[in-house]
Amino acid sequence: MLNFNWFKRLFKSYDIAEDTQHVPYTPMEYPSIYGTKIWAVGGGKGGVGKTLLATNLGILLSKNQKRVLLIDADLGAANLHTFLGVDGGRTALSSFLKEEVPDLQSLAVKTPIPNLDLISGAKDSLDVADIKPDKVARLKDALRKVDYDYAILDIGPGTSSTLLDMFLISNEGIILSTPEPTTIENNYRFLKCLFLRKIKTLADAQDDGKLKDLLQKVFSEKWSQRVKTVSDILNQLSTLDPEQGRVLREHVSNTNISMVMNQMKKNEDKEIGSSIKRACSDYFGIDIGYLGSVSYEECVSDSIRNRKPLTIHYSSSGAARGIESCLNNLLNKNKGSNGFSTINQF
Ligand SMILES: Nc1ncnc2c1ncn2[C@@H]1O[C@H](COP(=O)(O)OP(=O)(O)O)[C@@H](O)[C@H]1O
Ligand SMILES: [Mg+2]
Repeated sequence: MLNFNWFKRLFKSYDIAEDTQHVPYTPMEYPSIYGTKIWAVGGGKGGVGKTLLATNLGILLSKNQKRVLLIDADLGAANLHTFLGVDGGRTALSSFLKEEVPDLQSLAVKTPIPNLDLISGAKDSLDVADIKPDKVARLKDALRKVDYDYAILDIGPGTSSTLLDMFLISNEGIILSTPEPTTIENNYRFLKCLFLRKIKTLADAQDDGKLKDLLQKVFSEKWSQRVKTVSDILNQLSTLDPEQGRVLREHVSNTNISMVMNQMKKNEDKEIGSSIKRACSDYFGIDIGYLGSVSYEECVSDSIRNRKPLTIHYSSSGAARGIESCLNNLLNKNKGSNGFSTINQF
């Protein structure tokens, strides 16, 4: 069951604090003037394999002659460079967010892997909570000006507005899960916050405040008992105002999210992916693509300790093949479309 007090509080605080800094996000027709596809790897929990996946998706794409920019956006625990077996470098994404450098491209450094460039995370510890919403808008703007086939953001765990907004910059959001209940719980919370953030951002963007008023009604004493899921919000809102309901439903379903299950140990775990997919459809009223699973293997930690990337030095392992299969499913999912059809606008 969802705890909507969080959302009510979020809504009440609409005009104060962080949102005084709010920069309106204008919907982009295309994510980049160069057609760069932006992928984000994220989720509610740390230590589950987000950086492993982001790094190896980048490596596999670059092996396929795609020009890739990997961006370490986990500023609290930036370590993507280690997965690539390179040093963190002297400049980092934190320099851009602190406005010490004007653009992203100047931060990108070549890696030993052809076609693969890297922007490291943070030179020193930088509290993600300190990053104001306008900095995410600046990042989004700057991403439009990088010239690659793919830019992959490795996003830190949690549900802060900054992290959610970073995730929503992407054309394709990939959530990493493991079969453990704690990861599933955190990811469920992550998704809930993500959709509520999307709803709030749409309401914020409307000048007449109509949607905001309707949402306040949905959360009023009279209605709130009937509102248990994001799906319920959409249904109740449609009852109150079919047109606003339609717009909101379209906005929420216009979210491109897929899930990968990592650290799979048992056969029965394989069912979990499809169960999560069903639950997402019930609770959030949207389809989450399930890209597949990656097995738990010793060689993953060997590859990190030896600073030898998995999909290069352990390419025949089950884990590497699992990541490759997830990538193929993701690319196939977008086949036939230009890959920009369902941008995660916010
Ligand atoms: N498929 C796997 N098999 C074995 N160990 C794994 C696997 N995926 C991740 N790990 C372990 O989990 C640790 C955390 O992975 P990482 O990608 O850094 O997580 P996150 O970015 O989500 O914090 C790694 O150092 C690795 O030892
Ligand atoms: Mg990480």
